Amino acid sequence: MTQDELKSEVSKAALKYVTPGTIIGVGTGSTANFFIDHLAGMKDSIKGAVASSIDTANRLKRHGIPVINLNDVDEISVYIDGADESDHKLNLIKGGGGALTREKIVAAVSRQFVCIADESKLVDSLGKFPLPVEVIPMSANYVKRQIIDSIGGNPILREELTTDNGNLILDIHELEIDDPQNLENCLNNIVGVVTNGLFANRGADILLLGSQNGVIIKHAK
Ligand code: 5RP
Repeated sequence: MTQDELKSEVSKAALKYVTPGTIIGVGTGSTANFFIDHLAGMKDSIKGAVASSIDTANRLKRHGIPVINLNDVDEISVYIDGADESDHKLNLIKGGGGALTREKIVAAVSRQFVCIADESKLVDSLGKFPLPVEVIPMSANYVKRQIIDSIGGNPILREELTTDNGNLILDIHELEIDDPQNLENCLNNIVGVVTNGLFANRGADILLLGSQNGVIIKHAK
């Protein structure tokens, strides 16, 4: 199977986690797009979806799936989204598509987070994928200096990208991530940082991995 076929298979398997009659959260990226396309087949069984980006909202709407404003919702039954990397404890790096802040908000409101990915995303240690950090535009150079001085790694401004929130992204390359939760908190403490792409305080509950031998299911311990 190609990588896209694995993404499609794993996103189809995620339909099992969609509770009929509820509002679900939907992530951003190519794997999440496959999920939205499969979800269209059961759209009448859910109340609607909260989207983690403008692109996702548009795709949901094109399929006729009601898009609901998060401020009109008390609870989301399940959040389904991809990742750039997952370790074996289901700590994640997300934000390759630049939607990390809204993704983190929707994940926080959701009772369960089911992450869907092809098997290449599972790693022993996070950090080969550059860690995205969303920053308020005027703070970009300050945050960059703070990261170099107090965290390490090589932060590089993502060219020609403005997030759905009107902000910029710094991608931290060459970072060793020994303690994902601590690093998530330290980065978020830098003034000017909106949030970062480490999902460790609220990692995935379940990871579905598309592999050549079928979908592998992993649970957070
Ligand atoms: C977007 C994300 C995506 O979930 C992540 O980049 C994975 O994308 P893909 O499914 O295209 O591999 O965090 O901000």
